[in-house]
Amino acid sequence: MTNKTITILGIESSCDETAASIVVDGHKVLCSPIASQIDLHQKYGGVVPEIAARAHIENIIPIIRETFESSAITKDQIDAVAVAHCPGLTPALLIGVTAAKALAWSWQKPLIAINHIHAHIQSVLLEQMQEVFPAVAMVVSGGHTSLYDCRNPLELSLMGQTLDDAAGEAFDKVAAILKLPYPGGPSIEKLAKDGDPKAIQFPRTWLSKESLDFSFSGIKTAVLYHCRGQNMLGDNRVETMSHQEKADIAASFQQAVIDVLIKKTLRATDKINAKTVLMGGGVAANSTLRDALQVACEKQGIQLIVAPKKYCTDNAAMVASLGYHKFIEGQFAELSLEPSSFHVA
Ligand code: KG4
Ligand code: ZN
Repeated sequence: MTNKTITILGIESSCDETAASIVVDGHKVLCSPIASQIDLHQKYGGVVPEIAARAHIENIIPIIRETFESSAITKDQIDAVAVAHCPGLTPALLIGVTAAKALAWSWQKPLIAINHIHAHIQSVLLEQMQEVFPAVAMVVSGGHTSLYDCRNPLELSLMGQTLDDAAGEAFDKVAAILKLPYPGGPSIEKLAKDGDPKAIQFPRTWLSKESLDFSFSGIKTAVLYHCRGQNMLGDNRVETMSHQEKADIAASFQQAVIDVLIKKTLRATDKINAKTVLMGGGVAANSTLRDALQVACEKQGIQLIVAPKKYCTDNAAMVASLGYHKFIEGQFAELSLEPSSFHVA
C-alpha cells in the first residue's frame, strides 16, 4: 500500500434517507448531504417502502452531484464506491445499490458492499483516533437493537439482538399511540422532558438472567393498555389526557427502555472484558440515554464513546468510512451485488 490518500464515495438509501458522502482516509468527512423523506412518510406514521423507493430515485443523482460540488473532488480522485446493501428495505436499498454499481462500472473503480448496521458502529469510530478495542458496540436504531463484540471496524460478532421490535420502533409506536408526530423518538424525548420517569412502572423485559437479547414489544403493549384499558377494552383516553399525563407516560416509557439497554450493555462488557462501549444508531441521539449510559459506564470504569449526533441517524459518511477499511483489506464486491433486507455481510 502506498501512502497516497484513499478517497471513498459512500451511498446510503436503506430506509427513508438518501445520502452520499466523500470521506478521505476513513475519517476526514469532506461532506455528507442527506435528503430526508420525513415529510413524505409523516402522514402514514411510518416509512412506506414504495414511497421511499420513489423518493430515492428522485434524490439519488442530485445528492451525489451535491457531494462532488461541495467537496470539490472530481470522479478521478475517487478510489472506490461504497454502498449500504443490507439490511434495510429492499426497494429502497435497490436504488443506492444500482447507482453505486453504475458509477463503479462506468468509472472502472472497485465497488464495496457495506452492512448498514456495521456502518452505524463505524459512525462512532469515524472521528476517534484513540485505541478503543476490545469494545462492546450497541446499535440502537429504528430497525435494530444489537450488541456486538467489536475487535476492529471489520471484526464484529453479534452478542445479542432484539427478538421482536427494535428500540427505535418502540419509540415510533408509542409516539403513534400518544398521537405524537413521526419520527417518534425525538417527539417522545421532547415530551418526556416535562414528565416524571417514575410515574408509571412499565415492564422491563430481561428475558433470561444471562440473556443479551432484547424484547420491546411488551412495553409497547403495556403503554397501549395503559391508554386504552386492558386488552383495549376501555376508552381511548389519549385525546382527553392532560399534557402532564402524556409527559409522564413518555418519560416512564423512555426510562424503561433505557434501563434495559444499559443493563444488557454492561452485561455484555462483563462477558468480554471490554474496556469501551460504543453506541450508534438513531436512538443514540437521545440525550437522556446518552447521559444515563455515561453515568453507568463511569461507575464501572468503562469508557463510553457515542456517535456524534449528526451521525446517529442514517448518513453516508459512516458508509464511506467503513468502505475505507474494506478498501485497505481488499474486500471488494462484484457488480452483481444485490440489495438484501437481511444481514448478508
Ligand atoms: O438509525 P436510524 O436513522 O434508522 C435506522 O437504521 O433504523 O434510526 C431511526 C430511529 C427511529 O425509530 C427514530 O424514532 C429513532 O431512531 N430516533 C430516536 C431519537 N432520534 C431518532 N429515538 C429516541 N430519541 C431520539 N432523540
Ligand atoms: Zn440506520
